Amino acid sequence: MTLNRLNLTLAIALVLVLGLLKLARVDYSRPNYQVNLGDDMAVSPAYSPFEANENFANGRTMQSPVPGTIARGTQQFHFEATPADAIRAGEELVNPFDRSTEAGAASIERGKDVFQFFCTACHGGDGSGNGPVAKRGFPPPPSLLTGKTLPMKDGQLLHILTFGQNSMPSFAAQLPPDRRWDVINFIRSLQQQAKLQAKKPPANTEPSAPAEEVDTEPKP
Ligand code: HEC
Repeated sequence: MTLNRLNLTLAIALVLVLGLLKLARVDYSRPNYQVNLGDDMAVSPAYSPFEANENFANGRTMQSPVPGTIARGTQQFHFEATPADAIRAGEELVNPFDRSTEAGAASIERGKDVFQFFCTACHGGDGSGNGPVAKRGFPPPPSLLTGKTLPMKDGQLLHILTFGQNSMPSFAAQLPPDRRWDVINFIRSLQQQAKLQAKKPPANTEPSAPAEEVDTEPKP
C-alpha cells in the first residue's frame, strides 16, 4: 500500500467514524439500551397501590402507618378523649407559634380563614356563639370570648379541637395539627380584641373632653 492510498483510506475511515458518532448521538435524558434477560432485578414487577397483594396478611398493597406513627415535623399527641386528659394536654402541650412574632401573626391570619370556614356556622363570626346553626335549634355554643374558654390553656383547646367536647365535633379529620393551632391563635386574638373593647368606657358616659383647637393651617 502506498503512502497515498493509506492516507486516503485513513481519511475515509475518519469521515466514517465521525459520521457514525453523529448518527449515534447519546441522549442522556433516556436510559441506555438494555438487554432484558428476564431478570427481575432489572425490571421489577411493581404492584399498583390499589391492587390485591397476597404478600400481606390483609391482602392489600397500600398499608396504613403502624399505630402510633408520628409524621415528621408534627407533635406527639398522647392523650385520650377524657376531660382529665384535656387538662393534662393544657399542661403538657406547647403552642408551636409565638403570637408576638411575625410567624405568630401569620398563624393568626391563617386561623382567621380556618375560623371563617369551620367554626362560624356555630360559634358566629365574632366567636360569641350566635352562628346560624345555633339560631336554628342546635345547642348554642358558649361564647369563646368570655367564660370557660378564656382561662383554658392552648393545649386544652387543641384537645377540644382534636377530640371534640359534648356537642362540639372533632376537627381532627378536617384540620391538621398546625391549622388547629392557627385557629386557636385566632381565637386568642379575638379574645384580646374583646378585652380591649371591654376596657373602653361606653361612649355616652365618657367625660366630654374639651374640644381641642385643630390647627389646619399649613405650617411654614
Ligand atoms: C356544629 C357546631 C360547632 C362547630 C362547627 C364548632 N363548634 Fe365549637 N362548640 C360547639 C358547641 C355546641 C360547644 C359546647 C360544647 C359543650 O357543651 O361542652 C363548643 C365548644 C367549643 C369550645 C370550648 C368552649 C368552652 O367554653 O368549653 C371551643 C374552644 C370551640 N368550641 C372551638 C371551636 C372551633 C375553633 C371551631 C372551628 C374549628 C368550632 N368550635 C366549631 C359547636 C360547634
